[in-house]
Amino acid sequence: MELLSSWCYNGSLPESYVMPPESRPGDLIVPLGKSIPVIDLQCHDQIETVRQILKAGEEYGFFQVINHGVLEDLMDETMDVAEEFHAMSGWDKEKECAKDPKGSCKLYTSSFAYPREEFHLWRDAVTHPCRPLDEHIQFWPEKPSRYRKVVGAYSVELWKLSCRILEFICQGLGLSSDYLSNELSQDPKIMINHYPPCPEPSLTLGLSKHRDPTIITILLQGQVHGLQVFKDGRWICVEPIPHAFVVNIGYLLQIISNGKLKGAEHRVVTNSRDPRTTISFFVYPCDESLIGPAKGLVDARNPAIYKAFKFTDFVAAFILKPDKEALKELISAPRILD
Ligand code: OGA
Ligand code: NI
Repeated sequence: MELLSSWCYNGSLPESYVMPPESRPGDLIVPLGKSIPVIDLQCHDQIETVRQILKAGEEYGFFQVINHGVLEDLMDETMDVAEEFHAMSGWDKEKECAKDPKGSCKLYTSSFAYPREEFHLWRDAVTHPCRPLDEHIQFWPEKPSRYRKVVGAYSVELWKLSCRILEFICQGLGLSSDYLSNELSQDPKIMINHYPPCPEPSLTLGLSKHRDPTIITILLQGQVHGLQVFKDGRWICVEPIPHAFVVNIGYLLQIISNGKLKGAEHRVVTNSRDPRTTISFFVYPCDESLIGPAKGLVDARNPAIYKAFKFTDFVAAFILKPDKEALKELISAPRILD
């Protein structure tokens, strides 16, 4: 497996990157000016902030946050380091990601299932755990030389921001504000995606339509378009706003909220001009956590529409060996009609 960024500047799009017609980007049919909600986290009326977050989570499963408290300089520096990392030679990247004998730092192209894929995706990625920091940072890349310092500081700030957002969400759902502040959210991972310019953006994708297998995801997307959200049968572009974060509800939070919040489907399209680098902060549960609709959200009138399951079993059915039937079997509870 050779990284995309090692050969992609050589001309045409290989056949294996051509998506079947129904999955291709196609034309965007989105009313002008329609985008996902933007929420100001510095708003003094906290009840209003909670209301906006919940509404966005219900309607879109996506929103952007501004005035979120993470320093702009740190965001810029982290994006610089992310770009520098992907600009290194393939050999260097592999070496820098091989420091943990257990393989906690992963580098791949397309998806980690590259050898089994029918179609490849136009992206490279590196991912690693980030909490507790002192347990993991020793296995992170040491090149670029400021990688650990900068990405370490960034992951501490993103952890704080995710805790705040989770508390808002819990309040909005009517749960105790620390309902998610436990093993349900304690294993966050950083992922740095890189989408080089693509010779045929209309035929391929950077990421195909998916839901994140997370509680929430907080994305720094830089200034290049590419992320789209699927809503009401249409694709909506997520406008880059300088120094905003894009937040999305993950599939697991959809389940915990008993379907009230939407783990929205999204994808990434490519373009032929600008390389695009993004940084995802995935809030994951611990492996053994039990995921299911929160008790406080289930009663005779609102029966559970999902069963409870262990996060590892979900990973097996949803990520490692995607199997729609196995996933349905794992999560669906029969709806009890009254
Ligand atoms: C992801 C994702 C979006 C982007 O990493 O799951 O959806 O714009 N990323 O890179
Ligand atoms: Ni995603």
